[in-house]
Amino acid sequence: MGEQACACEEKYKEIEEAIGEYKGDRSALIPLLQKTQRLFGYVPRAVQVKIAEELGIPLTDVYGTVTFYSFFSLKPKGKYNIQCCNGTACYVRGAPKVIERFEKELGIKAGDTTDDGKYSLQVVRCLGACGLSPTIMVNQDTHARMKPDKVPEVLKKYV
Ligand code: FES
Repeated sequence: MGEQACACEEKYKEIEEAIGEYKGDRSALIPLLQKTQRLFGYVPRAVQVKIAEELGIPLTDVYGTVTFYSFFSLKPKGKYNIQCCNGTACYVRGAPKVIERFEKELGIKAGDTTDDGKYSLQVVRCLGACGLSPTIMVNQDTHARMKPDKVPEVLKKYV
């Protein structure tokens, strides 16, 4: 199954067992995807295939679900994980434009990782720093009062 070299065997075993318990049960799709995301940090394609087979759901529907919800990701996280807050306080102070700019600069959509594995972009709800909104985090660093024009500057710090 290995899409990448990692000690994933245990994780695959665990998720396969969980999937096996829900054979033919379509309602288990989301909980199983959540478990996969928790275990791997993303939803590997091989697991999507397994879920589709065991639950009796077309693979395109499984894939569609993974891409629909922003808390699922299709690739492992990048070296730098950029979390853009789009909670209420950040939203009203222009977070959508900041997110858009990150998407443009990185050439990916939120929820994705750049092909070189360097950056992941995530949209999240409230980072707990509403007074500094719009707020983003890159790994453990918080960046306050973001503006679209500050995006290239922030990216330059993470190479
Ligand atoms: S809403 Fe963005 S930090 Fe709280």
